[in-house]
Amino acid sequence: MFAKIKSVGLLGLNSYMVDVEVNISSGKTQTNIVGLPDTAVSEAKERVFAAMKNSGFEMNGGYHYTFNLAPADVKKEGSYYDLPIAVSVLSATMQIRGNYKNSAFVGELSLSGEIKGIKGVLPMVIAAKEHGIKEIFVPFCNCEEAAVIEDIDVYGVKTLKEVADHINDVYKLNPVEIKPFKTFEVPSYLPDFKDVKGQFEVKRALEVAAAGGHNAMMIGPPGSGKSMLAKRLPTILPDITVEEALETTKIYSLSGNLSKDNPIINYRPFRAPHHSVSPAGLSGGGTIPKPGELSLAHNGVLFLDELPEFTRNTMEVLRQPIENGTITISRAACALTYPCSVMLICAMNPCPCGHFGHPTKKCTCPSGAPARYLSKVSGPLLDRLDIHIEVPPVDYAQLSATEESECSADIRKRVNEARAIQIERFKGTDVTCNAKMTPAMTRKFCVLSEDAAKILESSFEKLGLSARAYDKILKVARTIADLDKSDSIEKKHIFEAIQYRSLDRKFWKE
Ligand SMILES: Nc1ncnc2c1ncn2[C@@H]1O[C@H](COP(=O)(O)OP(=O)(O)OP(=O)(O)O)[C@@H](O)[C@H]1O
Ligand SMILES: [Mg+2]
Repeated sequence: MFAKIKSVGLLGLNSYMVDVEVNISSGKTQTNIVGLPDTAVSEAKERVFAAMKNSGFEMNGGYHYTFNLAPADVKKEGSYYDLPIAVSVLSATMQIRGNYKNSAFVGELSLSGEIKGIKGVLPMVIAAKEHGIKEIFVPFCNCEEAAVIEDIDVYGVKTLKEVADHINDVYKLNPVEIKPFKTFEVPSYLPDFKDVKGQFEVKRALEVAAAGGHNAMMIGPPGSGKSMLAKRLPTILPDITVEEALETTKIYSLSGNLSKDNPIINYRPFRAPHHSVSPAGLSGGGTIPKPGELSLAHNGVLFLDELPEFTRNTMEVLRQPIENGTITISRAACALTYPCSVMLICAMNPCPCGHFGHPTKKCTCPSGAPARYLSKVSGPLLDRLDIHIEVPPVDYAQLSATEESECSADIRKRVNEARAIQIERFKGTDVTCNAKMTPAMTRKFCVLSEDAAKILESSFEKLGLSARAYDKILKVARTIADLDKSDSIEKKHIFEAIQYRSLDRKFWKE
């Protein structure tokens, strides 16, 4: 007796179709699974046979079961082949009869026959659709993840019996209802920018960063509001696009971070790992590497508060992925690449006591300590931060002022308008914001007016800017012009962009 059932395999974010074949021949009772299974797959037979018996299906002894998971040369991991293995036995033993040639199955079985949740359902459903599968059976608790995918019927199933009854036309299930994608609406109870008194320049700089997806660094004394400002950043980030939301949700699906109530990441993620995070925690890791904080922040913000407290190794992990937007993690078993197109926001004090460069307070650090502290942030990392902002202490007059500052919703409106210009500009490419422009795009879209070019030329020499800094200034100036709804980059735009690169000279070059 023979049967072949389709399933989907997942290696990192790469999905591929898997044929689960079973051959049942008479002989001594024995079960073999071939096709590079890991321990979880090998153990499937124990779960599957118990689940089948406890679901009321016939399981006769005196047969030799051979399962093959094809393609045989790709390592299979996880417990999600339980369901297709069970369905293949039911099919070979004629306990289900129906048309399931264009169907795929994924899910883990409990001994009682219930189907348990698995990780990575969204990328699996997308892969199945791309391979022409018309319907896919997934665990009920994961089915909402796939509710935005059209042109494939997704069935959320709770038990093996339910799957068999559906195929045998005993009790038909309904596919998951398609829900059109909707971006997250920022709830009014979130902390708002209007709570932050004064700090107009800092807020402006964060608005520019959010509009163009630029990396930024805030430096200032204790209590000046750096963490407070960063916490409010999610309320001014531009709406996430459908494509971005799907990419980010795939990563969350793979790392098991989605729930039935929160099946799609329809907002830009904001990840703020503590400074004790390990390099692997940031980059991703494990025998079959899983995404780390960098990838979980994909299309959103990675916020590193108290930057010099992160270990040097952790900080250096950031360098290449921040520039490339992807991270490749190599392990003995395989090398996997995850996307990590993030906006990196960092905050720090200028020295251990926090008052170095303070307008009124004296720095109490021993001589050389501020320089040592600042040097914990390497030059190359600093160079990757497009916008450097000094967060000065707020004075009493500003703190006690009664008039309200501008609220997040108003800032967000401008950010969204500027981002819409960028999306239109980069239509048909995979770039979505100014910060991610390729060198060719920078040349094409960042043409300076004559005045602006002169200013940049003289500043370049005066400030001793690097080639990367030059590039970043052009990109930031493009964003400032977009916020100003100006096609050309004018003098005032380039002035503001240069000003965002001069802070490192105050602290790092003294
Ligand atoms: N501009 C401001 N407007 C209103 N309140 C402020 C402002 N700046 C600071 N505060 C108050 O001070 C508190 C501390 O600010 P915050 O934690 O953001 O400082 P910080 O710059 O991150 O300091 P540290 O360097 O010690 O981490 C805030 O929770 C807030 O109550
Ligand atoms: Mg802080």
